[in-house]
Amino acid sequence: MLIGIPKEILPEEKRVAATPETVRKYIDLGFEVAVESSAGEGVLISDEAYEDAGATIVADAERLFAEADVTLKVKQPILNERLDKHEVNMLRDDSILITFLHPAAPESHDIVKRLRDKNITALTMDGIPRISRAQRMDALSSMSTVTGYKSVIMAANHLQTFIPMIGTAIGTIKPATFLVVGAGVVGLQAVATARRLGGVVKAMDIRTDACTQADSLGAKIVEFDIPQELAVGKGGYAQALEDEWLEIEQRLIGPRLEEADVVILSALVPGEVAPILVTEKMVASMKPGSVIMDVSVDQGGNCEITVPGRFIQRLGVNICGIQNIPGRMAVHASWLYANNMYYYVENLFKNGVGELDLKDEIVESSLVTHRSIIHHQGALKAMRGELSN
Ligand code: NAI
Repeated sequence: MLIGIPKEILPEEKRVAATPETVRKYIDLGFEVAVESSAGEGVLISDEAYEDAGATIVADAERLFAEADVTLKVKQPILNERLDKHEVNMLRDDSILITFLHPAAPESHDIVKRLRDKNITALTMDGIPRISRAQRMDALSSMSTVTGYKSVIMAANHLQTFIPMIGTAIGTIKPATFLVVGAGVVGLQAVATARRLGGVVKAMDIRTDACTQADSLGAKIVEFDIPQELAVGKGGYAQALEDEWLEIEQRLIGPRLEEADVVILSALVPGEVAPILVTEKMVASMKPGSVIMDVSVDQGGNCEITVPGRFIQRLGVNICGIQNIPGRMAVHASWLYANNMYYYVENLFKNGVGELDLKDEIVESSLVTHRSIIHHQGALKAMRGELSN
């Protein structure tokens, strides 16, 4: 069975779905591996390094897609402008695709239908449940860890001030203040990073468990007295709040924004649009030169005036809506992703190379299309009305 690793073609995407280390492991499992030439260029991995690990290098992307039984990617398939061919069309009918597909998002619906029509078995890395057996496969958590760290570094780069307290002959410079809203995987890593840089860090979340974790990392908690039965739902995940609670939360955030140098916004309820927690009026109250990193932008953002994909200056504040933060730290992001992918593939074929274990809980929840049927519940819900499946 041949695994194919194409070069990612999304602009600015430097990650790759396999490293020489994971290529070796696939070969040990009994797979053959083909890698498109220069697929590892963005993460400083040469074709020779893949060859040394046992992969075949293929120069022609079309040939790679056509021959692979299993294609491993990072981003969803898109149009290859150089070849004027869509990656979905290049995939071989009846083959397997594993990548981030975000199948419920409206912009993915067309791709999902096309994968179904080509009888592709498509599996999405964002469908892996956060259960302990799946921890090594949890690519969303890996990418969120990178994002939490890198968002603080990117914000630091935009500040025109020190972050730690600095003693000088002229006087003492006060440390920068960070406000982290949403203390999930992104938020906790942001808290830890900002603390390591010497910042004063405040954090808030609607789940008391998340607040406890942020507190243990050295953040001062902004108390929000919301009943936990309203804030926490099935599986311990956050639930969407009613508007009246969101207004209370905005009133709590307001004064903390005024004193913050950096605000990291990473509040999200799985499967929902991100709550608006910072309005335009609230941005206007912030210090000139302060920075908002709105990492929830893919789900609409937590700040009312974030522009998706752009780093803008509005009302004297720098507002970041960059959507591919892990791609800006591609070496470690790829190392994590490639290993998450390996453990996912190992579990998928645990009954033998060529034998998909579709009954496995992790596989079931990440299965998008199989045998010309859409299986993903989130996608089916989001696509209701446009399907004759
Ligand atoms: P997560 O689910 O681990 O954390 C979200 C946190 O938000 C939870 O702790 C939840 O309790 C909290 N929350 C929900 N509603 C809230 C509210 N009203 N107020 C305060 N807290 C609230 O999610 P994770 O992995 O930390 O991701 C956070 C966001 O970052 C997501 O939108 C994700 O898509 C995004 N992300 C963005 C990337 C980028 O490149 N821009 C890369 C990776 C993740």
